[in-house]
Amino acid sequence: MRAFCEHDAFQCGYCTPGQIMSAVALLEEGHAESDAEIAEWMSGNLCRCAAYPNIRAAVRDVRDQAGGLIAARLSATTPQPAGSAPTRQPSSTRSCACAASAACA
Ligand code: FES
Repeated sequence: MRAFCEHDAFQCGYCTPGQIMSAVALLEEGHAESDAEIAEWMSGNLCRCAAYPNIRAAVRDVRDQAGGLIAARLSATTPQPAGSAPTRQPSSTRSCACAASAACA
């Protein structure tokens, strides 16, 4: 939340809770190597205020300050089989199960 405030990563704040939840998840799963990767993994959250550049800046800031600590914390608290990759997929590769799935495709 601090990074979102410091980078002015919201205007109306309507999307902010979801953006933060996704940002935490992608950071914990190690998907913040580049702006393109951050954008892809955040793509399931729409921001009608178009704060995307600042949201990505906030994610980069947390990534750079936390270093590998976030991924290390996740692996320490979530037992995973050796060699397994996170099972979450970018939203562009997930199928939509909502009632408006045709609109989501
Ligand atoms: S800050 Fe307004 S919708 Fe994202």
